[in-house]
Amino acid sequence: MKKLSLALLLMLQSFALQADETNATQAQNSHIPDGIKYIKMLGGALKSELQQHLKADPSGKEALDFCSSKAEEITKSINDKLPEGASVRRTALNYRNKNNAPDPIDQGIMEVFKKAADEHKLTPQNIIKIEDGNYTRYYKPLLTKAVCLKCHGTEVSDDLKNLIKEKYPNDKALGFKNGDFRGVIVSRVKK
Ligand code: HEC
Repeated sequence: MKKLSLALLLMLQSFALQADETNATQAQNSHIPDGIKYIKMLGGALKSELQQHLKADPSGKEALDFCSSKAEEITKSINDKLPEGASVRRTALNYRNKNNAPDPIDQGIMEVFKKAADEHKLTPQNIIKIEDGNYTRYYKPLLTKAVCLKCHGTEVSDDLKNLIKEKYPNDKALGFKNGDFRGVIVSRVKK
């Protein structure tokens, strides 16, 4: 996995996700691989909840509480809906929750993503598809946006920092800047 280079990343297929916009027709949707649909299911569920909680309480405390108490539950409830042999989860090189720690394949892919992001060559559409024995994995990169900085940035409020430290004494997910590679959503589908 170490040998994966930036050139390889750029050669790998980038899936166009525009068919997934709200006005997409069934026919367009059927061209999206299932593994990418699962990524959108998890990403979409977490994003809409996060937005609602940030709106309700702009300090971010309520949203932080939501992320720390419900992110795993939501991930599990989405996985419960997937066909046998399929799964979807989040992971990161610098993770907050140790249950989200990467496996060796995740690690290799994310090192490639990180290098590409550092060189400003990564977009969220650069989904990587790899073969993993009897499974296919899809990796969607997550880039840090302004909204993420409240809880993952360099200037997180003391209130939030204290809450984070309390729940995640070994947190590694602070200090990100806008545009930094933050992590991935990865799905695995049985062949
Ligand atoms: C309100 C605070 C908050 C905001 C805003 C936030 N996060 Fe997080 N994030 C968390 C918490 C708390 C966790 C740990 C969740 C858990 O226990 O599974 C987390 C976990 C993650 C993970 C899983 C890997 C890990 O570190 O455990 C990723 C990936 C991630 N966040 C990316 C983002 C991105 C990208 C954004 C912006 C779109 C964002 N986060 C915005 C609080 C936040």
